[in-house]
Amino acid sequence: MHTYFSEKTDFYGSSSPHELVSRYGSPLYVYNENILRRRCRDMTGFIPYPNYKVNYSVKANANLELLKIIREEGLNADAMSPGEIFVLLAAGFKPKQILYISNNVSAEEMMYAVNLGITVSVDSLSQLETFGEHNPGGDVAVRINPGFGIGHHDKVVTGGSKTKFGINDDCIDEVKALIKKYRLNLVGINQHIGSLFMNGEPYIQSVQTILDIARQFEGLRFIDLGGGFGIPYQKQDGEKPLELKLFGEQVADILSAWARRYNPDIEFMSEPGRYVVAECGILLGMVHAKKENSGVLYAGTDLGFNVLARPVMYDAWHDIEVYPKHGSIVSSSKEKVTVVGNICESGDVVARDRELPPLSIGDILGVMDAGAYGYSMSSNYNNRLKPAEILIRADGMHQLIRRRDSLEDLLRNFNDYIAPVLP
Ligand SMILES: Cc1ncc(COP(=O)(O)O)c(C=O)c1O
Repeated sequence: MHTYFSEKTDFYGSSSPHELVSRYGSPLYVYNENILRRRCRDMTGFIPYPNYKVNYSVKANANLELLKIIREEGLNADAMSPGEIFVLLAAGFKPKQILYISNNVSAEEMMYAVNLGITVSVDSLSQLETFGEHNPGGDVAVRINPGFGIGHHDKVVTGGSKTKFGINDDCIDEVKALIKKYRLNLVGINQHIGSLFMNGEPYIQSVQTILDIARQFEGLRFIDLGGGFGIPYQKQDGEKPLELKLFGEQVADILSAWARRYNPDIEFMSEPGRYVVAECGILLGMVHAKKENSGVLYAGTDLGFNVLARPVMYDAWHDIEVYPKHGSIVSSSKEKVTVVGNICESGDVVARDRELPPLSIGDILGVMDAGAYGYSMSSNYNNRLKPAEILIRADGMHQLIRRRDSLEDLLRNFNDYIAPVLP
């Protein structure tokens, strides 16, 4: 069934993928408000503990309209750059709702956040020193490396010995010395072990580790346990979602016991990105060519890695739905096809060796679960235009929430050069 997911979820509301593409062009990111709200609520209800907050990790998707919905659903946010902070403020988040998890940033970037009243987390001793020099007496958080990590690919494992992230527990004395030297208030500690786990064990282990480390600090206001919650990318093969209920209860028990004993006022946070937005997004693209080359059948589309980088970057899998061009019926037969984009690199493959109904020029493909690290990792490589983004509202109506780049956008930053600068 190659339209199973979108039919089951009534993903496109009152429109069809073909209507949306003919109106907004291809490729096109389509988001579904109902699914987004449901995933937000999964996360706010995840840990049944009264002093628990969710920081949405905006790097996964920074569309302004989606951020407004996420804020309405009661999530706070973590930001990784001044740009993310800027967009979060534009979406109505208050500085107190944002944690800036900085990584190798300049003093100016730290102070951008500090001057806005946003708490900064630093992730090395040297950055803690920089923070202290520029904001002595200020509030600060530090990112801890719990000594192990997890992830769907080496590139997204962010704890343990093979990553640039965090401060190891053998540096705690040095952290304390810097805190004292600059009269800083260590208000929180945070961690993030990596991205996309489908069982809660490693997360629980990391929670226990950070709680042990937290005992070494006095006066903490929060402990941020990190994100990384996976979603089933292979639904067509029956992959099941992460079992959140039992997992959340186990975490809640651990947190309650710790808080009772060491700090009843502490606030706990998680920082999911993917889980919140991945499943509310489908990327639509069009088949423009078909060819066979040395025994491999290729479907040539506009789904280049400028639009969706995950398959090329991480060998990531996305299920594909097929919406045949007007008037044709999806064939019940299948053929093995490699779906490629229009970028000038051999690695530009969206889906390799997939069993799909025979594709024709004009068919639309839906790349499932593309809401996280889709648009946010897109680029203008090959001077291609970034696609539009639309939202299927709760009432089924569609709304443009970011326009497609125009050709003029490609020249936007050259204006000063085009007008000659005289000495
Ligand atoms: C510090 C930090 N927090 C949270 C996240 C969100 O991860 P995920 O989208 O897997 O939940 C990331 C992802 O890279 C991260 O680096």
